Amino acid sequence: MNTLYLGTNTKMYKTTAQTVAYLQALDAYTSDISRHGVELFVIPSYTSLHAARMCVPSDRISLGAQNMGWEAQGQYTGEISPLMLREAGVQIVEIGHSERRHVLHETDEEENRKVLCALAHGFRPLLCIGETQDQKLFGIGEEVLRIQLKIGLYGMPSEQAERLMVAYEPVWAIGEKGVPATPEYAEKMHRVIRETLQTRFGACATHIPILYGGSVNEENCEALCALSNVDGLFVGRAAWEADRFDRIIRKTIARWREEGRL
Ligand code: PGA
Repeated sequence: MNTLYLGTNTKMYKTTAQTVAYLQALDAYTSDISRHGVELFVIPSYTSLHAARMCVPSDRISLGAQNMGWEAQGQYTGEISPLMLREAGVQIVEIGHSERRHVLHETDEEENRKVLCALAHGFRPLLCIGETQDQKLFGIGEEVLRIQLKIGLYGMPSEQAERLMVAYEPVWAIGEKGVPATPEYAEKMHRVIRETLQTRFGACATHIPILYGGSVNEENCEALCALSNVDGLFVGRAAWEADRFDRIIRKTIARWREEGRL
């Protein structure tokens, strides 16, 4: 059975009250959508996680954290530990979003520590990777993806591969100035990711969800989700109003049904 993953990270937007209102609206909009073969997830701010968990059950909408410290506890002022996220009821931990890497200067080695820590504490790590505009220009985009995967997943046993999720989010495609990847380009890069995962984990890699993210919207969601190595979409701005996200969810599910993937 295939699973279609559709999620959003609300970044540093939405207070707790706004997150709760958003989740309640999204749950209401999507109440008639079967979750059989479909997983919806929302990754809100840390401060709203507890209230978010209280307002929507995890079998309707999974919750993720936008980041995580790599130790259970210690002298790491400002960090949030896996124990705290467990208490908040989180299932997914997003690791290495482009803004963490390029604005906050996180390294592949740090993302690797977080991936291993997330797995050790029973979460599903959602490792985000993607090349910058310059790396694309220099023709090293594929190498960058391989490096981010090889370092980011270093030391991870194959038995844990079934809990891993990967998001391909080209840095040049993200945000207000972003240009979405063409379906052809996205498919090429998703194939590189799949092959790298296969080299690393063997047959288990077939089941690792690879999501596309970067300026996904109502117009391009169907073409992007229809690609053979795309297992879902990781949406930013176009998902932050519940009715718009609901439309993307419905279009995407319909496309997967047409393709016989659901
Ligand atoms: P965007 O954000 O859809 O607004 O480009 C994507 C992301 O940062 O995950």
